[in-house]
Amino acid sequence: MKIGNLLLSLLFVLTTAAFANQKAEIQPTVRICDLLLGANPQGNPVIKKMLAEFIGKHSQLHPGTILDLLELPKNPDHGDYAIPVFSLAKIEKKNPTEIAAQISEKLMSVKPDWIESFNPISGFINVRLKPSFYQKLLKDSLVNEGSHYGHADWANGKTVVIDYVSPNIAKPLHIGHFRASVIGQAIRNLAETQGFNVVGLNHLGDWGIQFGDLIWAYQNWGKQYDFENNPFESLYQLYVRVKNEKKENPDLDKGGREIFRRMEAGDKEVLAIWEKFRAITLSEDQKILDTLGIKHDQVIGESFYNDQLPAMEENLRKLGLLIESDGALGVCTESGAFCLLRTQTGTSVYAARDVASAVYRHDVLHADENLYVVGNEQKDHFAMVFDILKQMGATWVKGLHHIGFGLYSNEGKKISSRDGGTLTIQELINTAMQQARIVLDKQGVPVTDRAVKRLAMAALIFNDLSGDRNNNVEFNWDRVLNLEGGGPAIIATLDRTVQILKNASAPVSEFDFSGLESAEEVDLIRQILGFQEALTASYVTYQPSILAQYLWKLSRSLNTFQQSKLLPSDSPNKAYLHAQLTLLKASRDILGAGLEILNIDSGLKNP
Ligand code: ARG
Repeated sequence: MKIGNLLLSLLFVLTTAAFANQKAEIQPTVRICDLLLGANPQGNPVIKKMLAEFIGKHSQLHPGTILDLLELPKNPDHGDYAIPVFSLAKIEKKNPTEIAAQISEKLMSVKPDWIESFNPISGFINVRLKPSFYQKLLKDSLVNEGSHYGHADWANGKTVVIDYVSPNIAKPLHIGHFRASVIGQAIRNLAETQGFNVVGLNHLGDWGIQFGDLIWAYQNWGKQYDFENNPFESLYQLYVRVKNEKKENPDLDKGGREIFRRMEAGDKEVLAIWEKFRAITLSEDQKILDTLGIKHDQVIGESFYNDQLPAMEENLRKLGLLIESDGALGVCTESGAFCLLRTQTGTSVYAARDVASAVYRHDVLHADENLYVVGNEQKDHFAMVFDILKQMGATWVKGLHHIGFGLYSNEGKKISSRDGGTLTIQELINTAMQQARIVLDKQGVPVTDRAVKRLAMAALIFNDLSGDRNNNVEFNWDRVLNLEGGGPAIIATLDRTVQILKNASAPVSEFDFSGLESAEEVDLIRQILGFQEALTASYVTYQPSILAQYLWKLSRSLNTFQQSKLLPSDSPNKAYLHAQLTLLKASRDILGAGLEILNIDSGLKNP
């Protein structure tokens, strides 16, 4: 998905007589996604289409090219949409200012009544639309689409399997899982807005040699821990001890191997202990996932694939892909790396289970798309797994995507807990809630548990999702809980809007935006009309930040409107006030819906 070289698509001539009646053939343009209208995923698809058709009809510009060129002007005073003509000027060997002026003049002479003006500024044709057109478009869209406003249906019931969080047994969920949780859940919610049938998958890390070690430790040292009263705590302590002692303790190393071998062979006695550890972890994880509002549809742990591995290896052998090296099994990837699937001692590894799982997701879960929301440190792992599947002839491998993400850091350092270990999600949430409580206390508002949690989570989630997921997230509390910015500021604006609507003296009429013509009002309408494009762009790039940034801008426009234009609630100008309240209501609904997609409590559901 790269944005194509626009020059390729600019093989048109505007004024040359020889081409006067003939549109030059334009190469199909490479779009960010065919589902988005144009290369710039901003604005409103209906408007972009209308503009492309109209300008295409009255110039030699091809509608497809116009779609790709259309963008939102950096300076909103210049217009609502802009078309740069630099590439065209280069081809024509003309001055961009001149070309923009020529085209604008021509278009002005034929403009329809929904367009206010075409205005050439420094090599751009700026288009300004009439407020009445915006009012009607918003009304029609809200009436037609109802509660599905902004949703798309291109996915048409295709299935997307999304693997997110997928923690390991015996370890508490840590700050890295927080990223996987919020990015994963946001992408899941976004997929639903595009018409996908979504399967949220917890690919639980419940298999591997470490369980052999853990069970050996339990059998030998278990009595020293209080599994009865503190099962998870005890399990984790055992896990840490195993990790620390494994190198120096040959009994543990050997015993662990033996036990894992027995596990792979289906030994009931050791599997019963493993089952217990799995249940202890799942119930602990569930508490955190519930707090975060993370929902999976299926838990299919790595252990599930154990029985499928011999057949998979056999298949690889038949295909001539399996390499045996000193008793270990693996596949050589196209880039020349060796991907280990089974160790010398005969135990399976993580990658083998991922190959089997991808096949399962395709064959059994019928995944058309298969997303792995896992940190960028596993980039090479997924590249190898996808490579093996490709060599196995899986044509569907193009539907597999590793949705990586960066780490949390504080001035370049890793975030740790007070004792220097990895910060757990529980500690993260606890601290955020404490801070949120202080902030709310200072404001002198009633401090309910819901309000505390809502503020804390809005701050944490927005801080996480507002930047490109591949980047590291700079984490410091001052920034996260800054009420002037981010999630807290957005929910404050939303809450104020809800309050204004509650206090409104009369019921709000449905969808009539007539008379809203000030720059602030039109700007807000325009923002609302960008919702669909923001959702689609956010999904197809797997970047929740696009939606987060959209919501930020929407909330700023809403704020500006409230502060500068909103009439007092007792204004005698009832018709105008009603139209304004209608706009507030639409803004509230879109902002609320957008926040919910990011998994931030809008406060609108079960207030
Ligand atoms: N359990 C792994 C970990 O915590 C993540 C699993 C991600 N999903 C997968 N299909 N490999 O690192």
